[in-house]
Amino acid sequence: MSDPLPPLSTGSKALRFGVIAAVVLVASGAFAYVNGSLDRSRLTPKVLVDNLERGGGVHPGYRRNHAKGVCIVGYFESNRQAADLSVASLFGDEKTPVVGRLALPSVNPYAPDSSVPIRSMALRFTLTNGQQWRTGMNSMPVFPIGTPEAFYQQQMASAPDPATGKPDPTKMKAFFADHPEAAPFLAWIKTAKPSASFATETYNSINAFYLVNAKGDRQAVRWAMVPVASDEADAVAAAPAGGDFLQQDLAQRLVLGPLRWQLRITLANPGDPVDDASKAWPADRRVVTAGTLVINKLEAQNDGECRDINYDPTVLPNGIEASSDPLLAARSAAYASSYLRRTGEVDQLKEAGK
Ligand code: HEM
Repeated sequence: MSDPLPPLSTGSKALRFGVIAAVVLVASGAFAYVNGSLDRSRLTPKVLVDNLERGGGVHPGYRRNHAKGVCIVGYFESNRQAADLSVASLFGDEKTPVVGRLALPSVNPYAPDSSVPIRSMALRFTLTNGQQWRTGMNSMPVFPIGTPEAFYQQQMASAPDPATGKPDPTKMKAFFADHPEAAPFLAWIKTAKPSASFATETYNSINAFYLVNAKGDRQAVRWAMVPVASDEADAVAAAPAGGDFLQQDLAQRLVLGPLRWQLRITLANPGDPVDDASKAWPADRRVVTAGTLVINKLEAQNDGECRDINYDPTVLPNGIEASSDPLLAARSAAYASSYLRRTGEVDQLKEAGK
């Protein structure tokens, strides 16, 4: 048996502890460098989501954006028209189960339905091979800006002024003067009105993606869910003022039968921008209708199936790939930060009963 180690003198103990402390400091410094917390100017997911909270308040248990919503459940029925474009099985299979969410793009979960002219749809398709396709779409055709930095600046400019409790119009004006890329969005919002129903809206992916087929061909695309069950009168119906009419409208429609949207995939021409969500593609691009989304059930978001889903737009099955659009990576990271915050507060959401 070997001799036990000789006892350490006080001096060499201090030296050992010093070396250990130095190693720990260097390691934590390296982590802080990598995750960006040393660089105060770096746009981390925390900074993006803190900024949303600063603008709209903290509402425990709720998503940090698009906070007011409802879960929807149903399936996607393929017509096989997109099976040549992508190997993702939902384009070939007859039926793919879907859990989704319809929402208002507001940080405040109590915002009146008439307060914004935009509505959103998020979907999670569960494919036969267990892979998932998650997508979050908005009812506007283009995004105001094309980079996470500009998104951050826009939130800063639209945050309520502490003195008045309202956004400062001069700050918004200055922001849009510095961001001429917002012109197509501003032209759209000028005439956009809050719809009376989620069921009559078209929801757009806005960001571009690639479909990849069995030969390995990559086609840049954007997609939209276009309502089929709505009639013209519905589509232009003005929203009742205020309140919570959207969920009531959905419940009433579902008594009469399922809600349907067609999945329409727009194919880019070579040279169309795939990395800039503020730029629309020309209207003459080829569109493939891939099938129909059928929704037959609503669930409250406080305990429904969508509650614990992070609709991260970069969760994609084989056959669908993310483009180089910088908003996609920023969305993925910010949604994760929002998800971690709200799922840690789920009991408070249940208590709120929403
Ligand atoms: C840098 C830009 C963006 C940031 C920082 C951002 C941030 C967020 C956050 C924090 C949430 C809540 C996520 C959760 O807790 O589940 C959210 C939800 C959502 N965002 Fe964004 N967003 C951005 C851009 C976009 C774009 C370009 C679209 C285009 C379609 C979009 C569509 C949506 C939708 C549909 C939801 C609701 C998802 C649901 O119902 O769960 N966002 N966003």
